[in-house]
Amino acid sequence: MADYRIFHSPRLSGEVWIGTAKNAVLPIMAATLLTGEECVIHKMPALTDVKNMLRLLQLCGAGDRMEKDTAVICARNVQNPEDEGLLRSMRASVLVLGPLVARNGECAFSMPGGCAIGQRPIDLHLKGLQKLGAKVETDGGQIRVTGKLQGANIYLDFPSVGATENLVMAATMARGLTRIENAAKEPEITDLCHFLVAMGARIAGIGTNNLTVEGVEEMHGAVYTPIPDRIEAGTLACAAAMTEGSVLLQNARSDHMRALLFKLAESGVIFQEDPKGLRIRGRARRPMEVRTLSYPGFPTDMQAPLMAVTTQLNGLSVFVETIFENRFMHVVELNRLGANIRVEGQLAMVQGGKPLTGAQVTATDLRAAASLMIAGLATQGETVLHDGGGHLMRGYDGLEEKLRALGAQVHKEA
Ligand code: EPZ
Repeated sequence: MADYRIFHSPRLSGEVWIGTAKNAVLPIMAATLLTGEECVIHKMPALTDVKNMLRLLQLCGAGDRMEKDTAVICARNVQNPEDEGLLRSMRASVLVLGPLVARNGECAFSMPGGCAIGQRPIDLHLKGLQKLGAKVETDGGQIRVTGKLQGANIYLDFPSVGATENLVMAATMARGLTRIENAAKEPEITDLCHFLVAMGARIAGIGTNNLTVEGVEEMHGAVYTPIPDRIEAGTLACAAAMTEGSVLLQNARSDHMRALLFKLAESGVIFQEDPKGLRIRGRARRPMEVRTLSYPGFPTDMQAPLMAVTTQLNGLSVFVETIFENRFMHVVELNRLGANIRVEGQLAMVQGGKPLTGAQVTATDLRAAASLMIAGLATQGETVLHDGGGHLMRGYDGLEEKLRALGAQVHKEA
């Protein structure tokens, strides 16, 4: 629903505020279904995915109101969401599954959609719920999960972020003790656990790969401010590194960004913690080798934005994408700008150093859109980023405005 016109930008400089993490606020919103009392979430980001999640919570029976950037959500009674379109359009819709089964003993909805970056199965979610005693029936694209949950020992074949979130939410009100081993431990999961504890949950091992949850009868309302968005901060850090800038990312949590920051530092970028956030200075110079991994490894969501930076580095940079099966769609579009990138399966080889030339490019997914916007900053001539699917606005709250505030030449055409 938008096009962006991007021109070669001077060195970015100045300060910009990092907003609340999309991937923290979405599971926290889903967790409000666990109680009939009012929950208050501050500093809500203005994202399409957040609007869609609010709509989904309404379909699940929750009432909500926004007071500036504060959401007040109250799910006095809960029900199954019906809206197929919404459920299919947003992967995070699967996160209402655990809370609804825990609260109501049942949840029936259509399989959440895959998306450009992969099929996005939910087998680990369903297997874990079955371990907790739920009955799972699938009929075509419909799923029905029913049962009174009992604590259990769960081992995740893969540290899935969404499965960990769904299962820890379900376990908060399962009878008895639940252990989740090989759980994901992204900062957004730690944040969700802190919110659940504020609601009265009993969780041990928060921030580790082994979570222990002692079920409680009831959860109560809570007031909470989620963590800042490490991927928005990382995206802006990449933009600064692309233009040899000097920027202050206010409110950024550098402790959530170590893998990216050390990768940028290896390449010549300087980062400094600052009482107000995180300072990024200088330019990436040396080619990189990046393997995406579960946290605390290099985040898959930063693979596309960082790849844009490596197109300007003399030499061969290599990316191995181990998390999603189809997350190199930005490569074709970067090559349209004159980059020289070859993909072999899960490997992308970037022969960098050649200047990029403006062209018309298309956003295929959220982080690909960010990657192309960053590439446009170092491109001779005008780049037009077509984002008919509204990908960028799903996960970034005014990225083009923040870049412009730092001196970039980026303009949004409705
Ligand atoms: C979350 O997605 C994030 N989304 C993604 O961010 C992020 O890229 C991903 O975690 C990895 O960090 C939200 O938090 C809303 P997974 P999620 O379950 O939960 C496979 C962005 O750009 N898998 O850890 O879907 C799956 O197919 C988005 O902000 C199964 O096979 O990630 C994928 O290959 C993109 N079976 C891998 O695991 C399952 O049951 C990682 O998936 C679940 C997952």
